[in-house]
Amino acid sequence: METITKLTDLRTALAPLQAHGTVALVPTMGALHEGHLTLVRAARKAADSVVASIFVNPRQFGAGEDLDAYPRQLERDAAALDAEGVSLLWAPQPDEVYAAGYATNISVSGVSEGLCGADRPGHFDGVATVVCKLFNQVSPDMAFFGEKDWQQLAVIRRMARDLDLTRPHVDAIHGVPIVREADGLAMSSRNAYLSPEQRSEAAALPRAMRDAIAAIRDGADAPRALGNLHDTLLASGFTRVDYAELRDANSIAPLEGDNGNARLFVAARIGGTRLIDNMAVG
Ligand code: PAF
Repeated sequence: METITKLTDLRTALAPLQAHGTVALVPTMGALHEGHLTLVRAARKAADSVVASIFVNPRQFGAGEDLDAYPRQLERDAAALDAEGVSLLWAPQPDEVYAAGYATNISVSGVSEGLCGADRPGHFDGVATVVCKLFNQVSPDMAFFGEKDWQQLAVIRRMARDLDLTRPHVDAIHGVPIVREADGLAMSSRNAYLSPEQRSEAAALPRAMRDAIAAIRDGADAPRALGNLHDTLLASGFTRVDYAELRDANSIAPLEGDNGNARLFVAARIGGTRLIDNMAVG
């Protein structure tokens, strides 16, 4: 596997892959775990070669967020990607992606609003902008993203549709189901911030979500079930619940109850660590 850090070298490195067949892109910010490797495996099944990117995108972190603390472990990540059969690693530095004078922003309304869009102003602009740039840089036939960031995936698909992107086409932007630890916690690079005690408390998040969904399926009033979920998390070691909401899985519009396409979205904090998760209701 070749690691490329300069845009001028990227096209040259991509040419033989594109000549040989289809190319899948797996965009990441590094600190890879089994969830990322699952994306790579799905990409390998679907395409002739896989390009992974590792770029900790400063434009999707707000003031006071964890940009500086975000785990960076390029060598270890490169070895893991190599072992999974990735052909090319695109790992630019910020000044390679955002040259002096950079002034363009992509903002996707609707699906970006509420949930993480409300808690992290500008976050999805940063995501849409960098993903559009990565798509233009790599020009993949298809791309793979984790469904843990369900709202992010909705934003990326909306952006690809609205901007008439062809590489990849919106239909070739694939979501891959969440990979969970044995106790149900969704895998995330940010789980590494948790102390052992916080890590065991964190398992309350998927448990409380499953309980709320079971109650809603049994006919409980949704706001009441979400209120119970909120209280359970605070009683289990979580220090704050940013949101616990039912939304339409496609439009991300708020829902009062299950419309047959409802998803439960939760963001909650243990100390300084913010965890997110989502599950289908129906
Ligand atoms: O999900 C992530 O790791 C990032 O948001 C992404 C899609 C790589 C954009 O920086």
